[in-house]
Amino acid sequence: MAASGEHDSLPEEPQPTVEEETKTFKDLGVTDVLCEACDQLGWTKPTKIQIEAIPMALQGRDIIGLAETGSGKTGAFALPILNALLDTPQRLFALVLTPTRELAFQISEQFEALGSSIGVQCAVIVGGIDSMSQSLALAKKPHVVIATPGRLIDHLENTKGFNLRALKYLVMDEADRILNMDFETEVDKILKVIPRDRKTFLFSATMTKKVQKLQRAALKNPVKCAVSSKYQTVEKLQQYYLFIPSKFKSKRLGSLNKFKAKARSILLATDVASRGLDIPHVDVVVNFDIPTHSKDYIHRVGRTARAGRSGKAITFVTQYDVELFQRIEHLIGKKLPVFPTQDDEVMMLTERVTEAQRFARMELREHGEKKKRSREDAGDNDDMEGAIGVRNKVAGGKMKKRKGR
Ligand SMILES: Nc1ncnc2c1ncn2[C@@H]1O[C@H](COP(=O)(O)OP(=O)(O)OP(=O)(O)O)[C@@H](O)[C@H]1O
Ligand SMILES: [Mg+2]
Repeated sequence: MAASGEHDSLPEEPQPTVEEETKTFKDLGVTDVLCEACDQLGWTKPTKIQIEAIPMALQGRDIIGLAETGSGKTGAFALPILNALLDTPQRLFALVLTPTRELAFQISEQFEALGSSIGVQCAVIVGGIDSMSQSLALAKKPHVVIATPGRLIDHLENTKGFNLRALKYLVMDEADRILNMDFETEVDKILKVIPRDRKTFLFSATMTKKVQKLQRAALKNPVKCAVSSKYQTVEKLQQYYLFIPSKFKSKRLGSLNKFKAKARSILLATDVASRGLDIPHVDVVVNFDIPTHSKDYIHRVGRTARAGRSGKAITFVTQYDVELFQRIEHLIGKKLPVFPTQDDEVMMLTERVTEAQRFARMELREHGEKKKRSREDAGDNDDMEGAIGVRNKVAGGKMKKRKGR
């Protein structure tokens, strides 16, 4: 077991048996009102990771949860937290740390969907969004705070009256990412201001090999709930994925929402969107650039084929990527077949594209000439002022000089 070999000291949960496959949420110890909520979401039975993790969490254990992408890890930590919240209602009860804003909103939606009938209140604390409204949300003392580390620190340091000294649950979703170097300072600061006496859940589809990193999360006698025997990609795989240029990054939520609403059929994304995002209608993921960290591959392709659906992932490999590609194959423990393309068809398309480009160029040229002629004909036409005005801006004022002559 590739993953379990990394944490030999952790007790391992047994693999689910056929009997466990037929378990209900109620069998796991989930309280009736939350079972109903699952039912309303169409969750007819718990997923494997939920079967493994929920009873342990309800017993008060710390958890390291490792399961493939799209396997319901969010529910696996949200349900026991909501269950515990019902038992001992308290404000600022749980904190979920996630690496990205988009993921924070998604997790909050899931808490709200599961907890709406019990009136759970969540606050999403992430960067790129007005800090003031977040301070107001925190002042209302929500039950669950879902945050990216950086912005949470801002509020812990600067928002009067806000603290997490009574916190009962800490979740690190995409835990290996949260425990990574780039969040080190923030996470250490957060860990210093929350109680040691708390429950801690780490969840991800990939986990860090470094026990040292895991130790930073200060788990207490954690139980490891791992449902896959290695870092698996889902069996029924297909997908959708491309790049978003950094200049559009403030537009991240906007484009994602359009995509989720099916108003856009292609989402261009960087690795920011590689983890955790759950958009059921994603059919294909194209790795336009090969991921340099092999584990990122698992998260990226995991944006499709979620929750038992099928999906497709296509990775572009150039002559420079062969080593990286082999590393990925090694990590996921399988050789990937060549994506079948009809060379003739592709060549025909290339011809058509080239031809279309030629026509486009010709039309542009003709159009340009027509414009030039009509400009010459128009003489002192009033519209020309406006047109020249625009052109001046585009041509950096060149035409202005000519006009002035
Ligand atoms: N018991 C269930 N039955 C059916 N669907 C479920 C169940 N639990 C969760 N789901 C659905 O499965 C989808 C994937 O869940 P989730 O986002 O929690 O996956 P994940 O394991 O966190 O994946 P990733 O590693 O990519 O973050 C969601 O749409 C969720 O609503
Ligand atoms: Mg997830």
